[in-house]
Amino acid sequence: MTDTAADMLLGVSGLSAGYLGEDVVHDIELTVGVGEAVAVIGSNGAGKSTMLKSICGLMSPSTGSVRFDGNEIAGTKAHMVVRAGVVYVPAERHLFPQMAVQENLFLGAYPSRPDAERLELVYDTFPRLKERARQHAGTLSGGEQQMLAVGRALMSSPKLLVLDEPTTGLSPILAQEAYAAMAELRKGGLTVLVAEQQVPLALELADRAYVLDHGRITLSGTSDELAADPAVRQAYLGI
Ligand SMILES: Nc1ncnc2c1ncn2[C@@H]1O[C@H](COP(=O)(O)OP(=O)(O)OP(=O)(O)O)[C@@H](O)[C@H]1O
Ligand SMILES: [Mg+2]
Repeated sequence: MTDTAADMLLGVSGLSAGYLGEDVVHDIELTVGVGEAVAVIGSNGAGKSTMLKSICGLMSPSTGSVRFDGNEIAGTKAHMVVRAGVVYVPAERHLFPQMAVQENLFLGAYPSRPDAERLELVYDTFPRLKERARQHAGTLSGGEQQMLAVGRALMSSPKLLVLDEPTTGLSPILAQEAYAAMAELRKGGLTVLVAEQQVPLALELADRAYVLDHGRITLSGTSDELAADPAVRQAYLGI
């Protein structure tokens, strides 16, 4: 489904990355096909954020290749990676708290001018943001801030949306709502790579998933395969 060159959007190969000369993720092999949702599941400190950041140009991998849409992007500056169509939404969200919701959305389109149709799509996906368009981002609830972080990423019309633990700080119900919104976006054709500790939600959304354990991919398969895997069930699903 994904490993043919024609429909592969992201291809990560032999990627290692870390801090102060010491790798914390090792020899990552991962692909995302056009229109797919792919999850990376792993517990605290497994290396999920390090892996995503080194894919998205927020840090340079020490070795390895990141091919996106036919081009090598490993080690490319973050703004160039955004321009290529990869948008990373950090777990911490990094909104501009003193700016209005709509201004935060407009910044997501930068350096392009915000597109009215795009804004409508974001507001259709998250009607709450439209209601609160003039409110300062810093005064939004946790769930609303999560919507804004995703909405802002969508303003640049990404080819690949990369979400780092989008359920961070959310109650179980809000976490479910966040994933329901992502499922809707998927129906619209969006390609998604998501890192998550909330494994049931991630496996429900994703077509395929990878298990990251102590910086290494230890298992991969369809979400159904992983949900049925005894090791995954014991380690991540508490069964
Ligand atoms: N800036 C940094 N400098 C040094 N070590 C770091 C830095 N950031 C992360 N690490 C280390 O790298 C390892 C992987 O961290 P990473 O944040 O990638 O894990 P994670 O899977 O995203 O965890 P979490 O689910 O808690 O977000 C950890 O041991 C962490 O302490
Ligand atoms: Mg993390």
